[in-house]
Amino acid sequence: MKVSEAIGMIFASTEEKRNLRRRLARRAAREAGYYIYSDHMVWKEQPFFEKAWTGATGIPGIADPRCFVLQSVIRSLAQVKGDVAECGVRRGRSTYFMLTADEAERTYHLFDAFEGLPEPTEDDRLADGSVRWTEGDLSTEEAVARENLSGFSNVSFHVGWIPQTLTAVAGGSFALVHIDVDLHAPTRDSLEFFWPLVVPGGMVVSDDYGSRKCPGARKAFDEFFADKAGIIELPTGQALVRKAEA
Ligand SMILES: C[S@@+](CC[C@H](N)C(=O)[O-])C[C@H]1O[C@@H](n2cnc3c(N)ncnc32)[C@H](O)[C@@H]1O
Repeated sequence: MKVSEAIGMIFASTEEKRNLRRRLARRAAREAGYYIYSDHMVWKEQPFFEKAWTGATGIPGIADPRCFVLQSVIRSLAQVKGDVAECGVRRGRSTYFMLTADEAERTYHLFDAFEGLPEPTEDDRLADGSVRWTEGDLSTEEAVARENLSGFSNVSFHVGWIPQTLTAVAGGSFALVHIDVDLHAPTRDSLEFFWPLVVPGGMVVSDDYGSRKCPGARKAFDEFFADKAGIIELPTGQALVRKAEA
C-alpha cells in the first residue's frame, strides 16, 4: 500500500475504505497472477464448466483455466464437423472437460502410452542448458484414465507411442486436436500427422506452448506453423491455431 493510500484509509468513510480494499485486493491479485480468478470473472460459473468441475473432482491434471479454454474452443466448434484427437491424456482431466462441453456428435480419439514421457532430446533443453523432464515422468495407469472417462461412450483409446499409434486414424477428419505431450518430438510428430487432417475452420491447441518447462513444445509449434498459420498465445500457457476456411 502506498503511503498516500495508508493515510487516506485513516480518514476515509466506510464506503471509501471498502473501495480502497477492493482496489488493493485487485492489484495484489493482478500482480500475483490470480486476476483470472477474481469475483467479477464469470468463466468459472458457466454451467458447462461447473458441471465438468464437479464431475472431475478427484481427477488431477491441467489447471482449471486451461480446462475452460478447451471447453470454450470446443463450444466454438459446434458447427464444425469432425472428430477430436488428444495427444497426451494422462488421467483424462482435459478430456473430461472437453467431452462435457461438446454439444456435437463426434468421437474423441485419445493417444497416450501411459508410460510417461519419452527421453527428451536436445530440442527440450532450457536456456540454461538443463532439461526439466526425464524419461518416464508423468506416467499413469491406463485403467485410471479409462475409469475416469467411463461415463462417455464416444471415446476411443489408442494406447502406445506417438507417432506409431497415429496411423490408426489416417484419413480421418478433425475439428480439434489437443496436443499435451510436453516434449519437442511427440509435439512435432503430432502436428505433422494431424494438421493435414484438420478441417477448414478447425483448431489445434497446445497445452505447453507458454510453459518454461516445455521449450521443445513451443519450438515444434513455431517451426511447424512458420509458413502455415498464425499462433495465438494465451496467458494460460496454451496456444491456439485455426485452419483457414477453404
Ligand atoms: C502432461 S501429460 C497430459 C495431461 C493431460 N492432458 C491432463 O489433462 O492432465 C502428458 C502425457 O503425454 C504422454 N506422452 C508423452 N509423450 C508421448 C508419446 N510419444 N506417445 C504417447 N504418449 C506420450 C504421457 O504418457 C503423459 O500421459
